[in-house]
Amino acid sequence: MEMTTEANEEVKGPTPTGRRSFVMAMFAVSGTVVGALLAIPLFRFATYPLRKDESDASWSDVGPVADFASLTAPVAKTITLERRDAWQTTSSQTAVYVLPAKGGLLRVLSPICPHLGCSVRWEDEQNKFICPCHSGSFTAEGERLGGPPPRSMDALETKVEDGKLKVRYQYFRQLVSNKEAMA
Ligand code: FES
Repeated sequence: MEMTTEANEEVKGPTPTGRRSFVMAMFAVSGTVVGALLAIPLFRFATYPLRKDESDASWSDVGPVADFASLTAPVAKTITLERRDAWQTTSSQTAVYVLPAKGGLLRVLSPICPHLGCSVRWEDEQNKFICPCHSGSFTAEGERLGGPPPRSMDALETKVEDGKLKVRYQYFRQLVSNKEAMA
């Protein structure tokens, strides 16, 4: 029995030319996907300087605003800092001082002494902040009272979001009279 040309083609499957085109197309698709994946770190690396500022000092939760409504003296709170660079995210904990509200606004101070960076302590009985390293002292508002610190304690930027107090933690240069954020 004689088979038609069409029947022969069905039995043989795609021509060598069709198979080659299919394989080439698959290579092209997989090459595009791999190229896109490899480009992600490159893109992050290339745009790092643009994103650096926003990622270096992100906002941290301090706690519900209602928790600080009846403060009568500074209180220490632990916050979590998240730092993102081009390659990874790391988290650490540090302390800040929340001050009683003034004019309806809560203020947050860095506990780092502007003299040489020791942790300043709130002394309830003396109603002032004292640095244990060289006896620098500050009022309950963080204003410099005496000792070697060249300026008052550093206030941190704050905002309230969804009823929560948030702080933008930053480090400031020591041994200078003006508050200068470190890059
Ligand atoms: S480090 Fe605070 S007074 Fe020197």
